[in-house]
Amino acid sequence: RQQQQRQDSELMSQCARYYQHQLKHHAQAEKAISYLKKRGLTGEIVKKFQIGYAGDEWDGVLNTFGRSGQQRQQLVDLKLVNRNDNGRHYDFFRDRIMFPIHDRRGRVVGFGGRVIDSDGPKYLNSPETRLFHKGHELYGFWHLQQQRKRPEQVVIVEGYMDVVSLAQAGIDYAVASLGTATTTEQLQRLFRTTSTVVCCYDGDRAGRDAAWRALENALPLLKDGVDMRFLFLADGEDPDSLVQSKGAEAFEQQLAQATSFIDYFFEHLLADIDPSNDAGRSQLLSEAKPRIEKVASDFYRESLMEKLANLLRRDRSQLERYVDKPKQQRM
Ligand code: UTP
Ligand code: MN
Ligand code: MN
Ligand code: MN
Ligand code: MN
Repeated sequence: RQQQQRQDSELMSQCARYYQHQLKHHAQAEKAISYLKKRGLTGEIVKKFQIGYAGDEWDGVLNTFGRSGQQRQQLVDLKLVNRNDNGRHYDFFRDRIMFPIHDRRGRVVGFGGRVIDSDGPKYLNSPETRLFHKGHELYGFWHLQQQRKRPEQVVIVEGYMDVVSLAQAGIDYAVASLGTATTTEQLQRLFRTTSTVVCCYDGDRAGRDAAWRALENALPLLKDGVDMRFLFLADGEDPDSLVQSKGAEAFEQQLAQATSFIDYFFEHLLADIDPSNDAGRSQLLSEAKPRIEKVASDFYRESLMEKLANLLRRDRSQLERYVDKPKQQRM
């Protein structure tokens, strides 16, 4: 199995180098390069993140790495190549800007590929393979660890371009959760690395939903000494567009004013609940209390409970008695 893993990651990094090479030498390279330029990326940062280009042909990776049947099978296993029902093989990534995804030790375990000018899904990511487990990996984490083992804070963003643009601007402590909601595993990894995690998702509905899910996933990880904060961007902005248009200083200024998780917790709940009447307060109790009880730190839990008591217009001591009775079987 270890040998298998070594061979797999060797092939993945060869493939990453192949895509990098194509960015310079493919017939369509100019199109890819001018797209990256249009996105404001320098050659230096493109190299640093080993960004490449998958050509528009169906057999680039296949012909370069799939000479024997065994090699083709490995390409299929790693989802670099697809096999259709007729047994024909073809490249998984075609005509896309390629972002290699590194695991924490710097091995390439997957890719994200962005379309340049054609339709189809904007990003195509490597599916789960024996090497790549999406929910565990964080794009940019390895690069971040190269800079500092224990950064003061880490910013979680949504996408590849956010991480790369921020790094180019000198903000080299951002990681992306790869499109999915940030998982408990990803947060756990981050809280082992830093004391402060700032969530900065896109200024849209999906980004706001992702923020709340991240907080829910983080509740059991909120121990004493760790902090989680939230930076909400203006409608239509993401960290990439913000840092490209306004610069690193503006971004860091906003970062310094990110909302504490305690404030965000109640702001979010009170967006849909009116605590000026009993029905609203009862609803607030039922939404807030079970979540507060998951918080790891006694200290944070108490702060949240005190705030909740104030909103409910009850004494803190009364709150403890408001426990839902165990459900009884009723006919
Ligand atoms: P976004 O839609 O916010 O894209 O998706 P983006 O990162 O801002 O990309 P640009 O700026 O248009 O190039 C955020 C992340 O969600 C995942 C990718 O990881 C993307 O970076 N995603 C998005 C997908 O996996 N597939 C998609 O079709 C779209
Ligand atoms: Mn897994
Ligand atoms: Mn988005
Ligand atoms: Mn975005
Ligand atoms: Mn973007």
